Amino acid sequence: MSLENDVRRAADLICDAESVTIVSHIDADGISTEAILAQALTREGMPVESVFVRQLEPMAMRHVPKDGSLKLFADLGAGQQNLLEEHGLSADEVLILDHHVGQPCGTAYPQVNCLDHGISRMSAAGIAYLVAKAIDQTGIDLAKLAVVGNVGDMMARENCGLVGPAREIVRDGVEYGNIVVQDHDLNCYGTSTRPVHVCLGYCDDPYIDGISNNTNAALRFLERLGVELKNPRGGWLVWEELPFEDRRTIISALAQQLIAHGRETDRLLAETYIFPDEPERTPLRNASEYATLLNACGRWAKPRIGSSICRGERGEAYRDAEHMLAHHRSVIRDLLQYILDAGVTELSHLQYVHTGDRFPDTIVGIGAGMALSKLNWKKPMMVLAAMVDEPEVTKVSMRTNEWALGRGADLCEALIEAAAGVGGAGGGHRIAAGAFIPHDTEEEFVDSVNRILKRQFAPADPDDS
Ligand code: C5P
Ligand code: C5P
Ligand code: C5P
Repeated sequence: MSLENDVRRAADLICDAESVTIVSHIDADGISTEAILAQALTREGMPVESVFVRQLEPMAMRHVPKDGSLKLFADLGAGQQNLLEEHGLSADEVLILDHHVGQPCGTAYPQVNCLDHGISRMSAAGIAYLVAKAIDQTGIDLAKLAVVGNVGDMMARENCGLVGPAREIVRDGVEYGNIVVQDHDLNCYGTSTRPVHVCLGYCDDPYIDGISNNTNAALRFLERLGVELKNPRGGWLVWEELPFEDRRTIISALAQQLIAHGRETDRLLAETYIFPDEPERTPLRNASEYATLLNACGRWAKPRIGSSICRGERGEAYRDAEHMLAHHRSVIRDLLQYILDAGVTELSHLQYVHTGDRFPDTIVGIGAGMALSKLNWKKPMMVLAAMVDEPEVTKVSMRTNEWALGRGADLCEALIEAAAGVGGAGGGHRIAAGAFIPHDTEEEFVDSVNRILKRQFAPADPDDS
């Protein structure tokens, strides 16, 4: 079956339902996915309830109601089909819309998974949007949320922009008028909210010698270029507010700086997605900052606030989200610092650190990703964390990069296999995966993942025996 056929069948299943329960994930992709589906269905007059879970695991299944509604598992479910079966859900009351690696079971649950169609650069929000559009062609205002979900799940990272079906969705938003595509824009986080030198100082992909990790040096660099960095009232301008000419001046100076240090310039520019209907100088103004705002809500246990924002609510919901964003940023900073200070243990094919109960299990993966580029980026990074509410369980998060994928690494496969070996469960993507394991099996588990990674890297490292 083609993707179009799967999408059509999903739309038909939804339209035939009496009512729908959306079960979605608490990250930016999960929240935007839920908001797309819930709005599309509400517009059709369909009764909808939503449940957010931080991971589809046995405890979380308690929140899935046993009623006559169609259970729409979104941004999760593909890797946990055995759990749906154990929970007694039959194939005619379930629909899975997911982009995670599937782990099939005895029951053939209907699903739309872009991985089944060779599409790896589209997230659940993209699938949700396609399904919503199959239900009602006119709902193209929702494309904006699909772009937030895709960008939030890093689907634009490798190609410095969205590609394939995810890029076609962008076109709908441009047509509707709530997305502006900026071609050849600076590939840097914070272009709508951070002073330009802060934005550059935080940029580490590409790593710019003399600028990355040093906002003071970034400021001196910009001052030497002679561009106006402040508004007439003396406040810092953000990148988005700079005149076109000044942006070009800065970009070409940055390119020269990269070349002078023998680095590639291909990641300096990216296609970015601006939302002209949102207020300037706020995190709602571009896709990546909007996604961080939603992540902050979800990871701090308020996914519904994120969902309200996606539906256009501002006021109190937005103020709450801003608080969570500030908190999210400061905890992530602390987490990264903790990992760097504590130091990782390096095994032959991975590096790991245990953060104990210092940080919530919902954010340690972000720390793993950020630490990777600051540590030995050639070795996949693992963070283990104690689960405060379930002391017998350890949460594991792993992140790697395209370089390691090119050499055979597959974190999802590694964690599924190693977790199964110790009585836990894992899943995710090749580049980013997680697992829950019994806490007394940590040592055995880490060794097992290292062995599996060694096996995966073997064809690329023939001398490494
Ligand atoms: O559920 P899950 O998809 O939520 O995890 C999202 C995480 O995986 C994010 O941290 C994102 O950075 C990472 N990811 C990635 N590259 C992909 C897919 C996901 O880095 N291709
Ligand atoms: O879970 P995943 O790896 O996608 O986490 C990426 C998240 O990390 C972003 O959505 C954001 O919350 C946070 N982040 C940030 N500042 C950065 C890089 C990442 O706040 N410079
Ligand atoms: O939690 P973390 O951000 O590290 O998760 C990375 C990826 O692994 C996510 O896509 C998440 O859905 C997936 N994961 C999983 N099973 C687990 C833990 C995480 O499929 N037990």
